[in-house]
Amino acid sequence: MLVGSSLPFHFLMYFAMTQQYRITLLPGDGIGPEIIPVAVAAIETVGKQFDFACSFETALIGGAAIDATGSPLPDETLTICKQSDAVMLAAIGGYKWDNLPREQRPETGLLGLRAGLELFANLRPATILPQLIDASTLKREVVEGVDIMVVRELTGGVYFGQPKGIFTTETGEQRGVNTMAYTTSEIDRIARVAYETAQKRGGKLCSVDKANVLDVSQLWRDRVTALNADYGDVELSHLYVDNAAMQLIRAPKQFDTIVTGNLFGDILSDAAAMLTGSIGMLPSASLGADGPGVYEPVHGSAPDIAGQDKANPLAQVLSAAMMLRYALNQPAAASKIEAAVMTVLDRGFRTGDIMSEGQTLVGCKAMSDALLEALEA
Ligand code: IPM
Ligand code: MG
Repeated sequence: MLVGSSLPFHFLMYFAMTQQYRITLLPGDGIGPEIIPVAVAAIETVGKQFDFACSFETALIGGAAIDATGSPLPDETLTICKQSDAVMLAAIGGYKWDNLPREQRPETGLLGLRAGLELFANLRPATILPQLIDASTLKREVVEGVDIMVVRELTGGVYFGQPKGIFTTETGEQRGVNTMAYTTSEIDRIARVAYETAQKRGGKLCSVDKANVLDVSQLWRDRVTALNADYGDVELSHLYVDNAAMQLIRAPKQFDTIVTGNLFGDILSDAAAMLTGSIGMLPSASLGADGPGVYEPVHGSAPDIAGQDKANPLAQVLSAAMMLRYALNQPAAASKIEAAVMTVLDRGFRTGDIMSEGQTLVGCKAMSDALLEALEA
């Protein structure tokens, strides 16, 4: 028990202490090792300004882990991730590992991480930045103002359903099988995340399925519809996935929040990202019920430009901002990073993927320098 005189002292100690966080870094493959340090430098800079500190531990995943240990997700990596406050992942995969058996492919490591941390909710924003409208392949009037959040179910559906595999039939033919399955509880928990996300955004939720053909989609639609009773302020609509793909390209501004299953979400989130013309700018968050989330750029490992100082680090940096906001509860630091990204774009700095006429082409390192300068200002 504290005695009277020591109480104010402890009280002061508490407030004088810098908040500490443990972050696991998973650089992975390709451009990953080039872009992760940019995000780390940004976090360290704002940490000093907002009085918090992160300890970073780097672990192996994907091809890098296969080369070092034979497994795309060593047990040690999952253990380190579970012990941290948040995980920052870059990207996995590359030509080198494409022809290995499935259990040894980089993608299997990523799926294992999602399953191991139970990251059932994947939030993928597709927001068009005014500075980059001309980088979109779509007309300005179609994409100007686009601000969509795709909420993708990440640990179920056809990615994980059983049975799965390549089997031999009675006639000696081979038969490849995957199973698209969702239980009520799996649908309900992602639907609730989506409704809550929509409440914080424009109040509109579009659920995407294939209920005209698939039973699993009929259950999906029934559950999402039933839960609308708990979120009366959210305007719910439904689209079949083929129509949703078409509408995303035709008139993307009709969408606010989209919720969908694992496979449809994989495809539609890429389409939504490309509306912005700059997949190299988009962050994402993968969250579970409890435990650390994973924050990563939407883009891949870009093996074709790896090691050439050409990568765009800004999606990784914006993923760090998402992590600061959602996992570490440092919204001011997150806003500071986001503002610095806008500043470097306003100054005309562009990596190759977002380059347009009249702007200044820079590499990953120069982009990083410009960003840190904007953060120090
Ligand atoms: C994604 C990727 C992954 C997926 C691959 C790399 C396994 O495309 O995160 O969208 O299909 O989920
Ligand atoms: Mg994908």
